[in-house]
Amino acid sequence: MAAAAALIAAAACPAAGQDSSKRESPSDGAAVYASHCAICHGPEGRGDGEAADRFTAAPRNFVDGVYRFRSTSSGKLPTDDDLRRSVVQGLGGTAMVPQNHLSEAEVEAVIAYIKDLSPRFAKEGPPKAMKLPARSPKTDRSLQRGREVYLEAGCANCHGERGAGDGASAPDLSIAPTNLTRHPLNVGSTAEDIVRAVVTGLNGSPMPSYHLLYDDPDMWALGYYVESLGTDQGMTEQARIGWEIEGRDPPGKNDD
Ligand code: HEC
Ligand code: HEC
Repeated sequence: MAAAAALIAAAACPAAGQDSSKRESPSDGAAVYASHCAICHGPEGRGDGEAADRFTAAPRNFVDGVYRFRSTSSGKLPTDDDLRRSVVQGLGGTAMVPQNHLSEAEVEAVIAYIKDLSPRFAKEGPPKAMKLPARSPKTDRSLQRGREVYLEAGCANCHGERGAGDGASAPDLSIAPTNLTRHPLNVGSTAEDIVRAVVTGLNGSPMPSYHLLYDDPDMWALGYYVESLGTDQGMTEQARIGWEIEGRDPPGKNDD
């Protein structure tokens, strides 16, 4: 397989080592991957890197090609924009810290590389982003309506009445429902991030898709309400571990 051959080539090349200030050839996604992703996601992208056992949620297995964070419909692959968002912005609160030290060319190359690790991308063709609900304004009324939608839609069954992740069904789920009162959320903490997650669902987890179940104003009301449940907790332990493994300093370390 081409991907495997590229990996061996990258592994044999000591220049693909630690120094992130030294730019690899932009087309060489394998080298970017070996330097910046393999320690967590594994040498072959199976989610089993050296550091993988330090995380509460396993680094994604790119060979499976099952992606949680997307703008595409349930069960589908992510778009390149989705992958770019996850890679550059990172996933809030997790060890997947922003890979914003990479150049644009490196990001493009590594995205192409991880797509090649799963046969799904070639087989299924370019995924299409869904049309997300049109934004409506945030008002006292919409926040109230959002609370109603939250209860009607059964969010509370899993996430709990107040979003603390303690709903009645929580103990039965394979993956614990997120405590929505603690920001940052993995998907991002804005109403827009929340609306996207609720419309698309999170593949590979019990979080379902609510596509077309509510009209656009109701979806945004829900987004504003869920956004209002959380407060920022600052740096999580998982994120701290992520920065440490990468040997990079978290942002704002010396900011006022
Ligand atoms: C310090 C460990 C670490 C490093 C380094 C790392 N990741 Fe991750 N990554 C994770 C973890 C952990 C997750 C799963 C987070 C979760 O869902 O809670 C993840 C998730 C992801 C996702 C989200 C997939 C989805 O389900 O939508 C993408 C894409 C991704 N990583 C790409 C990369 C790429 C590309 C690199 C290298 C440039 C990289 N990661 C480097 C730990 C890491
Ligand atoms: C069947 C149980 C279930 C229901 C019902 C459910 N969720 Fe979830 N939800 C989950 C689980 C489990 C996760 C965590 C997924 C993960 O960690 O990969 C999650 C994740 C999320 C996330 C992403 C959290 C993050 O850190 O990025 C948001 C936002 C969310 N749910 C909102 C909602 C809203 C709003 C509703 C109702 C419209 C809802 N959920 C209904 C189980 C559920």
